Amino acid sequence: MQRWSVDLKSTAWRTSGLLAPVAEALRAGALVGVPTETVYGLAADATNGQACAGIYAAKGRPSFNPLISHVESLAAAERHGVFDARARALAAAFWPGPLTLVLPRQQGSAISDLVTAGLDTLALRVPDAPVMRWLAEASGRPLAAPSANLSGRISPTTADDVAADLGDRIQHLIDAGPCAIGVESTIVSLAGQRPTLLRPGGLSREAIVAVLGEDLMTADSDDAAPLAPGMLTSHYAPGATVRLEARGVLPGEALLGFGPVPPADAGLAVACFNLSESGDLAEAAANLFTGLRRLDRSGAACICVQPIPAHGLGEAINDRLRRAAAPRG
Ligand code: TXA
Ligand code: MG
Repeated sequence: MQRWSVDLKSTAWRTSGLLAPVAEALRAGALVGVPTETVYGLAADATNGQACAGIYAAKGRPSFNPLISHVESLAAAERHGVFDARARALAAAFWPGPLTLVLPRQQGSAISDLVTAGLDTLALRVPDAPVMRWLAEASGRPLAAPSANLSGRISPTTADDVAADLGDRIQHLIDAGPCAIGVESTIVSLAGQRPTLLRPGGLSREAIVAVLGEDLMTADSDDAAPLAPGMLTSHYAPGATVRLEARGVLPGEALLGFGPVPPADAGLAVACFNLSESGDLAEAAANLFTGLRRLDRSGAACICVQPIPAHGLGEAINDRLRRAAAPRG
Protein backbone atom coordinates (compact mmCIF):
# COMPACT_ATOMS: atom_id res chain seq x y z
CA MET A 1 0.00 0.00 0.00
CA GLN A 2 1.25 3.45 -0.92
CA ARG A 3 0.41 6.21 1.55
CA TRP A 4 0.00 9.87 0.53
CA SER A 5 -0.11 12.87 2.87
CA VAL A 6 -2.17 15.86 1.82
CA ASP A 7 -2.00 19.25 3.54
CA LEU A 8 -5.40 20.84 2.95
CA LYS A 9 -4.27 24.22 4.30
CA SER A 10 -2.44 24.91 1.04
CA THR A 11 -3.40 24.27 -2.60
CA ALA A 12 -0.01 22.72 -3.42
CA TRP A 13 -1.44 19.18 -3.52
CA ARG A 14 -3.78 20.33 -6.27
CA THR A 15 -1.40 22.47 -8.33
CA SER A 16 1.48 19.99 -8.09
CA GLY A 17 -0.61 17.11 -9.40
CA LEU A 18 0.53 15.10 -6.35
CA LEU A 19 -2.43 12.72 -6.56
CA ALA A 20 -2.44 12.21 -10.35
CA PRO A 21 -1.04 8.67 -9.98
CA VAL A 22 -3.91 7.84 -7.62
CA ALA A 23 -6.51 9.06 -10.12
CA GLU A 24 -4.77 6.95 -12.75
CA ALA A 25 -4.81 3.92 -10.44
CA LEU A 26 -8.56 4.39 -9.87
CA ARG A 27 -9.10 4.35 -13.65
CA ALA A 28 -7.16 1.09 -13.71
CA GLY A 29 -9.41 -0.50 -11.07
CA ALA A 30 -7.48 0.13 -7.82
CA LEU A 31 -8.95 0.31 -4.31
CA VAL A 32 -8.08 3.57 -2.54
CA GLY A 33 -8.63 4.75 1.03
CA VAL A 34 -9.88 8.34 0.75
CA PRO A 35 -10.69 11.07 3.28
CA THR A 36 -14.14 12.64 3.19
CA GLU A 37 -15.67 15.13 5.62
CA THR A 38 -17.83 12.35 7.14
CA VAL A 39 -15.63 9.23 7.41
CA TYR A 40 -12.79 7.73 5.35
CA GLY A 41 -14.08 5.87 2.31
CA LEU A 42 -12.91 2.78 0.44
CA ALA A 43 -13.13 4.07 -3.12
CA ALA A 44 -13.19 2.40 -6.52
CA ASP A 45 -14.40 3.30 -10.02
CA ALA A 46 -18.20 2.88 -9.78
CA THR A 47 -18.40 1.96 -13.46
CA ASN A 48 -15.94 -0.93 -13.06
CA GLY A 49 -17.78 -4.00 -11.76
CA GLN A 50 -14.60 -5.90 -11.01
CA ALA A 51 -13.15 -3.02 -8.98
CA CYS A 52 -16.44 -2.71 -7.05
CA ALA A 53 -16.44 -6.45 -6.36
CA GLY A 54 -13.05 -5.77 -4.78
CA ILE A 55 -14.70 -3.32 -2.34
CA TYR A 56 -17.05 -6.02 -1.05
CA ALA A 57 -14.21 -8.53 -0.82
CA ALA A 58 -11.87 -6.14 1.03
CA LYS A 59 -14.53 -5.17 3.59
CA GLY A 60 -15.78 -8.71 3.98
CA ARG A 61 -19.31 -7.45 3.33
CA PRO A 62 -21.60 -10.46 3.64
CA SER A 63 -23.81 -9.46 0.74
CA PHE A 64 -23.91 -6.99 -2.09
CA ASN A 65 -25.46 -4.00 -0.29
CA PRO A 66 -25.75 -1.02 -2.61
CA LEU A 67 -22.97 1.58 -2.37
CA ILE A 68 -22.95 5.38 -2.53
CA SER A 69 -21.47 6.92 -5.70
CA HIS A 70 -19.48 10.12 -5.14
CA VAL A 71 -19.24 12.75 -7.86
CA GLU A 72 -17.67 16.19 -8.13
CA SER A 73 -20.74 18.28 -8.94
CA LEU A 74 -24.50 18.39 -9.38
CA ALA A 75 -23.93 18.33 -13.15
CA ALA A 76 -22.03 15.07 -12.83
CA ALA A 77 -24.72 13.66 -10.50
CA GLU A 78 -27.41 14.42 -13.11
CA ARG A 79 -25.72 12.02 -15.53
CA HIS A 80 -26.63 9.19 -13.17
CA GLY A 81 -29.72 10.14 -11.17
CA VAL A 82 -33.08 11.69 -12.09
CA PHE A 83 -33.51 14.94 -10.15
CA ASP A 84 -36.95 16.39 -9.45
CA ALA A 85 -37.60 19.79 -7.85
CA ARG A 86 -37.13 18.43 -4.31
CA ALA A 87 -33.84 16.76 -5.21
CA ARG A 88 -32.59 19.97 -6.81
CA ALA A 89 -33.57 22.01 -3.77
CA LEU A 90 -31.70 19.66 -1.42
CA ALA A 91 -28.66 19.52 -3.69
CA ALA A 92 -28.59 23.32 -3.96
CA ALA A 93 -28.84 23.70 -0.19
CA PHE A 94 -26.47 20.95 0.99
CA TRP A 95 -24.02 19.92 -1.74
CA PRO A 96 -21.14 19.68 -1.43
CA GLY A 97 -21.75 18.12 1.98
CA PRO A 98 -22.86 15.21 4.18
CA LEU A 99 -26.11 14.41 2.32
CA THR A 100 -26.70 11.35 0.12
CA LEU A 101 -29.72 11.33 -2.20
CA VAL A 102 -31.36 8.09 -3.35
CA LEU A 103 -32.91 8.81 -6.73
CA PRO A 104 -34.31 6.93 -9.72
CA ARG A 105 -31.46 5.78 -11.90
CA GLN A 106 -30.84 7.74 -15.10
CA GLN A 107 -31.12 5.61 -18.22
CA GLY A 108 -27.67 5.21 -19.68
CA SER A 109 -25.83 5.73 -16.41
CA ALA A 110 -22.63 3.71 -16.58
CA ILE A 111 -22.66 2.90 -12.85
CA SER A 112 -22.22 -0.83 -12.29
CA ASP A 113 -25.13 -3.02 -11.18
CA LEU A 114 -22.89 -4.17 -8.37
CA VAL A 115 -23.00 -0.63 -6.95
CA THR A 116 -26.80 -0.42 -7.13
CA ALA A 117 -27.21 -4.10 -6.16
CA GLY A 118 -29.50 -4.36 -9.15
CA LEU A 119 -31.94 -1.69 -7.86
CA ASP A 120 -33.45 0.85 -10.24
CA THR A 121 -32.43 3.59 -7.82
CA LEU A 122 -29.00 4.82 -6.83
CA ALA A 123 -27.36 6.74 -4.03
CA LEU A 124 -25.41 9.90 -4.98
CA ARG A 125 -23.32 12.33 -2.97
CA VAL A 126 -21.16 15.35 -3.75
CA PRO A 127 -18.78 15.36 -0.77
CA ASP A 128 -17.36 18.55 0.70
CA ALA A 129 -13.95 16.91 1.00
CA PRO A 130 -11.80 18.44 -1.77
CA VAL A 131 -9.62 15.34 -2.26
CA MET A 132 -12.59 13.07 -3.00
CA ARG A 133 -14.11 15.60 -5.43
CA TRP A 134 -10.73 16.08 -7.11
CA LEU A 135 -10.28 12.34 -7.56
CA ALA A 136 -13.75 11.95 -9.11
CA GLU A 137 -13.07 14.81 -11.50
CA ALA A 138 -9.49 13.83 -12.36
CA SER A 139 -10.34 10.16 -12.91
CA GLY A 140 -13.48 11.12 -14.84
CA ARG A 141 -15.36 8.42 -12.93
CA PRO A 142 -18.03 8.34 -10.24
CA LEU A 143 -16.41 6.77 -7.17
CA ALA A 144 -18.22 4.08 -5.21
CA ALA A 145 -17.17 4.30 -1.57
CA PRO A 146 -18.49 2.73 1.59
CA SER A 147 -16.77 3.50 4.87
CA ALA A 148 -13.24 2.07 4.87
CA ASN A 149 -13.65 -0.42 7.73
CA LEU A 150 -14.12 -4.16 7.91
CA SER A 151 -17.80 -5.00 7.64
CA GLY A 152 -19.72 -4.41 10.88
CA ARG A 153 -16.86 -2.63 12.66
CA ILE A 154 -16.32 0.97 13.72
CA SER A 155 -16.12 3.49 10.88
CA PRO A 156 -12.70 5.13 10.31
CA THR A 157 -12.15 8.84 10.94
CA THR A 158 -8.37 8.86 10.47
CA ALA A 159 -6.02 7.33 7.90
CA ASP A 160 -4.47 5.21 10.68
CA ASP A 161 -7.91 3.67 11.35
CA VAL A 162 -8.08 2.68 7.66
CA ALA A 163 -4.57 1.25 7.67
CA ALA A 164 -5.37 -0.84 10.76
CA ASP A 165 -8.44 -2.46 9.13
CA LEU A 166 -7.58 -2.56 5.43
CA GLY A 167 -3.88 -1.70 5.04
CA ASP A 168 -3.06 -5.02 3.38
CA ARG A 169 -6.08 -4.93 1.05
CA ILE A 170 -5.84 -1.54 -0.68
CA GLN A 171 -3.35 -0.10 -3.15
CA HIS A 172 -3.35 3.55 -1.97
CA LEU A 173 -4.28 5.46 1.18
CA ILE A 174 -4.61 9.24 1.24
CA ASP A 175 -4.16 10.92 4.61
CA ALA A 176 -5.71 14.38 4.95
CA GLY A 177 -6.08 14.35 8.73
CA PRO A 178 -9.14 13.55 10.86
CA CYS A 179 -12.64 13.86 9.39
CA ALA A 180 -14.41 17.09 10.37
CA ILE A 181 -17.90 15.59 10.77
CA GLY A 182 -17.09 12.08 11.93
CA VAL A 183 -20.37 10.24 11.20
CA GLU A 184 -21.62 9.07 7.81
CA SER A 185 -23.78 11.16 5.52
CA THR A 186 -27.51 11.46 6.04
CA ILE A 187 -29.34 9.38 3.40
CA VAL A 188 -32.65 10.69 2.02
CA SER A 189 -34.66 8.78 -0.55
CA LEU A 190 -36.64 10.79 -3.09
CA ALA A 191 -37.38 7.69 -5.16
CA GLY A 192 -40.73 6.92 -3.50
CA GLN A 193 -43.94 8.84 -2.91
CA ARG A 194 -42.71 10.74 0.14
CA PRO A 195 -39.21 11.91 1.09
CA THR A 196 -37.82 9.32 3.50
CA LEU A 197 -34.89 9.41 5.91
CA LEU A 198 -33.06 6.13 5.29
CA ARG A 199 -30.14 6.84 7.62
CA PRO A 200 -29.63 9.72 10.08
CA GLY A 201 -26.15 11.20 9.65
CA GLY A 202 -23.96 14.27 9.49
CA LEU A 203 -26.77 16.57 8.31
CA SER A 204 -29.65 16.98 10.76
CA ARG A 205 -33.23 16.02 9.96
CA GLU A 206 -34.29 19.52 11.05
CA ALA A 207 -32.10 21.17 8.38
CA ILE A 208 -33.53 18.94 5.63
CA VAL A 209 -37.14 19.46 6.69
CA ALA A 210 -36.58 23.23 6.67
CA VAL A 211 -35.57 23.11 2.98
CA LEU A 212 -38.16 20.53 1.88
CA GLY A 213 -41.01 22.28 3.65
CA GLU A 214 -42.50 18.87 4.42
CA ASP A 215 -41.89 16.12 6.94
CA LEU A 216 -39.42 13.30 6.37
CA MET A 217 -40.79 9.79 6.73
CA THR A 218 -38.50 7.48 8.69
CA ALA A 219 -37.41 4.11 7.33
CA ASP A 220 -38.37 1.32 9.68
CA SER A 221 -35.03 -0.20 10.61
CA ASP A 222 -36.74 -3.36 11.95
CA ASP A 223 -38.15 -4.04 8.52
CA ALA A 224 -37.36 -7.52 7.20
CA ALA A 225 -35.99 -5.98 4.00
CA PRO A 226 -34.37 -2.74 5.16
CA LEU A 227 -34.41 0.10 2.67
CA ALA A 228 -30.82 1.01 3.46
CA PRO A 229 -28.99 -2.17 4.42
CA GLY A 230 -26.54 -0.08 6.48
CA MET A 231 -29.52 0.07 8.84
CA LEU A 232 -29.09 -3.60 9.74
CA THR A 233 -29.10 -3.90 13.47
CA SER A 234 -25.61 -4.83 14.70
CA HIS A 235 -23.12 -2.44 13.11
CA TYR A 236 -20.37 -0.03 14.12
CA ALA A 237 -19.48 -2.60 16.76
CA PRO A 238 -16.39 -2.36 18.97
CA GLY A 239 -14.96 -5.53 20.51
CA ALA A 240 -16.39 -4.53 23.90
CA THR A 241 -20.11 -4.66 24.64
CA VAL A 242 -21.86 -1.30 24.88
CA ARG A 243 -24.30 -0.16 27.61
CA LEU A 244 -26.42 2.90 26.79
CA GLU A 245 -28.13 5.57 28.90
CA ALA A 246 -25.66 4.93 31.72
CA ARG A 247 -26.13 7.16 34.76
CA GLY A 248 -23.42 5.33 36.67
CA VAL A 249 -20.30 3.25 36.02
CA LEU A 250 -19.99 -0.43 36.96
CA PRO A 251 -16.59 -1.74 38.06
CA GLY A 252 -14.35 -2.54 35.10
CA GLU A 253 -16.34 -0.52 32.56
CA ALA A 254 -14.92 2.19 30.31
CA LEU A 255 -16.91 5.44 30.23
CA LEU A 256 -17.94 7.27 27.05
CA GLY A 257 -19.02 10.58 28.51
CA PHE A 258 -21.01 13.52 27.21
CA GLY A 259 -21.35 16.99 28.68
CA PRO A 260 -19.83 18.81 31.65
CA VAL A 261 -21.13 16.56 34.43
CA PRO A 262 -19.59 13.07 34.73
CA PRO A 263 -21.46 10.38 36.68
CA ALA A 264 -20.65 10.54 40.41
CA ASP A 265 -18.83 7.21 40.27
CA ALA A 266 -16.78 8.00 37.13
CA GLY A 267 -13.68 7.12 39.14
CA LEU A 268 -14.62 3.43 38.79
CA ALA A 269 -14.06 3.56 35.03
CA VAL A 270 -10.90 1.89 33.70
CA ALA A 271 -10.78 4.49 30.91
CA CYS A 272 -12.75 7.64 30.05
CA PHE A 273 -13.39 9.57 26.87
CA ASN A 274 -15.67 12.62 26.81
CA LEU A 275 -17.35 13.19 23.41
CA SER A 276 -17.89 16.87 24.21
CA GLU A 277 -17.35 18.46 27.59
CA SER A 278 -19.41 21.48 26.55
CA GLY A 279 -22.28 19.23 25.38
CA ASP A 280 -21.88 20.20 21.71
CA LEU A 281 -23.48 17.56 19.44
CA ALA A 282 -21.37 18.38 16.36
CA GLU A 283 -18.20 17.98 18.40
CA ALA A 284 -19.56 14.73 19.86
CA ALA A 285 -20.30 13.35 16.37
CA ALA A 286 -16.77 14.19 15.23
CA ASN A 287 -15.32 12.36 18.25
CA LEU A 288 -17.71 9.38 18.33
CA PHE A 289 -15.83 6.69 16.41
CA THR A 290 -12.43 7.81 17.77
CA GLY A 291 -13.82 7.54 21.29
CA LEU A 292 -15.25 4.06 20.70
CA ARG A 293 -11.97 2.86 19.21
CA ARG A 294 -9.91 4.33 22.02
CA LEU A 295 -12.06 2.85 24.79
CA ASP A 296 -12.10 -0.48 22.97
CA ARG A 297 -8.28 -0.48 23.07
CA SER A 298 -8.42 -0.05 26.87
CA GLY A 299 -9.39 -3.71 27.03
CA ALA A 300 -12.57 -3.04 29.06
CA ALA A 301 -15.23 -5.71 28.50
CA CYS A 302 -17.98 -3.07 28.43
CA ILE A 303 -18.22 0.57 27.37
CA CYS A 304 -20.96 2.51 29.19
CA VAL A 305 -22.33 5.64 27.53
CA GLN A 306 -23.85 8.69 29.23
CA PRO A 307 -27.23 9.82 27.83
CA ILE A 308 -26.98 11.98 24.69
CA PRO A 309 -29.82 14.27 23.50
CA ALA A 310 -31.80 13.02 20.48
CA HIS A 311 -32.12 16.25 18.48
CA GLY A 312 -29.89 17.57 15.65
CA LEU A 313 -26.80 15.39 15.14
CA GLY A 314 -27.83 13.53 18.30
CA GLU A 315 -30.17 11.46 16.11
CA ALA A 316 -27.21 10.04 14.14
CA ILE A 317 -25.04 9.62 17.27
CA ASN A 318 -27.76 7.69 19.11
CA ASP A 319 -28.46 5.59 15.99
CA ARG A 320 -24.79 4.51 15.73
CA LEU A 321 -24.59 3.85 19.47
CA ARG A 322 -27.76 1.68 19.43
CA ARG A 323 -26.21 -0.39 16.63
CA ALA A 324 -22.91 -0.67 18.49
CA ALA A 325 -24.91 -1.90 21.52
CA ALA A 326 -27.11 -4.33 19.57
CA PRO A 327 -26.76 -8.09 20.10
CA ARG A 328 -24.08 -9.41 17.74
CA GLY A 329 -25.24 -11.77 15.01
O1 TXA B 1 -20.60 9.38 4.68
C1 TXA B 1 -20.84 8.44 3.95
O2 TXA B 1 -21.94 8.27 3.42
C2 TXA B 1 -19.68 7.45 3.69
C3 TXA B 1 -18.59 8.22 2.97
C4 TXA B 1 -17.44 7.35 2.56
O3 TXA B 1 -19.11 8.91 1.87
N1 TXA B 1 -20.13 6.33 2.91
C5 TXA B 1 -20.96 5.38 3.43
O4 TXA B 1 -21.26 4.37 2.57
O5 TXA B 1 -21.38 5.40 4.57
P1 TXA B 1 -21.87 2.97 3.01
O6 TXA B 1 -21.69 2.07 1.83
O7 TXA B 1 -21.27 2.51 4.30
O8 TXA B 1 -23.37 3.24 3.20
C6 TXA B 1 -24.21 3.25 2.09
C7 TXA B 1 -25.62 3.18 2.52
C8 TXA B 1 -26.02 1.77 2.86
O9 TXA B 1 -26.84 1.78 4.02
C9 TXA B 1 -26.83 1.37 1.64
O10 TXA B 1 -27.76 0.40 1.92
C10 TXA B 1 -27.46 2.69 1.24
O11 TXA B 1 -26.43 3.60 1.43
N2 TXA B 1 -27.83 2.72 -0.18
C11 TXA B 1 -27.03 2.79 -1.25
N3 TXA B 1 -27.74 2.75 -2.40
C12 TXA B 1 -29.02 2.67 -2.04
C13 TXA B 1 -30.26 2.61 -2.76
N4 TXA B 1 -30.31 2.60 -4.09
N5 TXA B 1 -31.39 2.54 -2.04
C14 TXA B 1 -31.38 2.55 -0.69
N6 TXA B 1 -30.23 2.60 0.05
C15 TXA B 1 -29.09 2.67 -0.61
MG1 MG C 1 -20.20 1.78 6.85
